[in-house]
Amino acid sequence: MSTTHVPTELEALSELEISTAEELAGRFPLTPNENPASQADYEQVMSELTFGNKFTDHMAHMRWTKEEGWSERGIIPYGPLALTPGAAVLHYSQSVFEGIKAYRHADGSIWTFRPAYNAARLNHSASRLALPKVDRDDFLASLVDYVRADEKWVPTGDGTSLYLRPLLFASEEFLGVHASSVVDYYVIGSPSGPYFTSGFTGVAIWVVKGYHRAGPGGTGSAKCGGNYAASLMPQLQAAEKGFSQVCFLDTYEEKYLEELGGMNMFVVMADGTVRTPELTGVILEGGTRSAICKMLRSQGTPVREEMIALDELVAGIHSGEVAEVFACGTAAVVTPITRLANDDFDVELPVGETTKRIHKQLTDIQMGYAQDPFGWMYRLV
Ligand code: COI
Repeated sequence: MSTTHVPTELEALSELEISTAEELAGRFPLTPNENPASQADYEQVMSELTFGNKFTDHMAHMRWTKEEGWSERGIIPYGPLALTPGAAVLHYSQSVFEGIKAYRHADGSIWTFRPAYNAARLNHSASRLALPKVDRDDFLASLVDYVRADEKWVPTGDGTSLYLRPLLFASEEFLGVHASSVVDYYVIGSPSGPYFTSGFTGVAIWVVKGYHRAGPGGTGSAKCGGNYAASLMPQLQAAEKGFSQVCFLDTYEEKYLEELGGMNMFVVMADGTVRTPELTGVILEGGTRSAICKMLRSQGTPVREEMIALDELVAGIHSGEVAEVFACGTAAVVTPITRLANDDFDVELPVGETTKRIHKQLTDIQMGYAQDPFGWMYRLV
């Protein structure tokens, strides 16, 4: 199998030159929150960082209508939305989102990672869900202006970040099934520590049979809530057995690995080759997945994007041919998988050296400890 990599459309779009934060700042004018978090609440949130359950004082917003396109850009106080129960998103799930992080470097500056990739993926997802595209400069400006308004919420310290969640949803009040003619875009942010409370010690994964998150021609490659909703019931069942995530298999044969409930997967072979399920249109084209492939290839490591059969993986773990397995994503970064099981097998794996090295190399770039040879970092503040 060839290891030559032709950049995907998202990768190619992410390589194009983009406007700087200075050029974009101010597109989303600030309406300050008159009731921000108290100093005591702020200090408590920042001293006990979890993942995704505390939010900052503001959010970015703009609205699209079929007649007028995008307008009403602004940074506004964070708070509940006034959404009619007739809003289309609540019925037909016409919504997509992104995950991206803001990192504070040692000198206090604040950076994000490959935002043009997320902008391109948001639009890939939007087009599959019949939502309007977001201009890349609007996407970037919403991050810049939002993070500038709430920069004190970007934590300091390894493994921490302000997790940014851009989202687009159908807000037209209408129960007919059609593409919404009113759409809202928000960016909210959550000061966060590691996604898995177990940290870098490894997670146990249940390989699901009988349920799938997406199928051919469906929405698998779009970052839409429905794919995640489809993963929740199998994940609950797996949690009852003591597993923290599920791995889905292909829909036709239940033979090949696809992805976890919200993360991509990698397999490290004992001979040093690294493998990851290929982009069949059913799995999400993860930004972390793409960055890891690029980083490894630049170091001369053979990376194979291909169909990976579960049987072969389990046999390889038994024989020692497979050395490590890990998950990756913006939220999870790089997380070792130390146990894989279902009714037919139960295998354990170490937290391997390659996984540790990839984690360190990637997070060193993100945190500004190492050179950024790929030009991935984008200064927000
Ligand atoms: C991310 O990694 O950013 C995601 O959106 C996945 C989700 C499990 C938090």
